[in-house]
Amino acid sequence: MNKLAFLSIFITLFVTLANAIELDFCVGDLSLPRGPEGYVCKDPSTVTTDDFVYTGFRGEKPTTSIFKNNVTLGFVDQFPALNGLGISMARLDIGVGGVIPVHSHRTSEIIILVKGTIIAGFIDTNNKAHYKRLEVGDVMIFPQAMLHFQINIGKTLATAYVSLNGGNPGLQLTTPALFAGNLPAQIVEQITLLSHEEVMRMKKMFGTA
Ligand SMILES: *[C@@H]1O[C@H](CO)[C@@H](O)[C@H](O)[C@H]1NC(C)=O
Repeated sequence: MNKLAFLSIFITLFVTLANAIELDFCVGDLSLPRGPEGYVCKDPSTVTTDDFVYTGFRGEKPTTSIFKNNVTLGFVDQFPALNGLGISMARLDIGVGGVIPVHSHRTSEIIILVKGTIIAGFIDTNNKAHYKRLEVGDVMIFPQAMLHFQINIGKTLATAYVSLNGGNPGLQLTTPALFAGNLPAQIVEQITLLSHEEVMRMKKMFGTA
């Protein structure tokens, strides 16, 4: 390894460690803009223990969405104490017959099922699908940025918690990305090879046609 490469690895390591050891925490100040590394820290003298507790996951959530699910995010915007720590969570409630449709994040995700029975899976970049029936207590990992999904195959509500290795991992749902946004039907047809009729059916479902 040449000297420059060694130096740059050393500097990267140093900067990373310096960030970690100069502050115990950096609760995000959501009133100021977010940069690529997260939010500016809230004045530490105003931080209380309540900042480190998130109560948004309490209770079963109604699953009345088009996909019969309810996704409750515990990302940095909902839980500012996560700022800079590279970790976040979400609660998934999936009604009978419901799904978390195919989607991806900027990060990896680990899921634990706490109620019901689901099929969970992801599709790798060789189009190989890895999917499995999960029972309560089972854990599955969806590697970073892979398309993944969950399907309630039981007769009761299914509930799972996920954790992601980023404070702001993003959530990009493939079907809404194509049909619920501002992409014109003709472009959707061209980039998916779907028929005009099918694209219009989907756009109507999402109220964009
Ligand atoms: C999800 O749950 C929240 C909290 O109970 C509720 O306010 C919201 O309307 C639900 N969303 C859907 C689509 O059911």
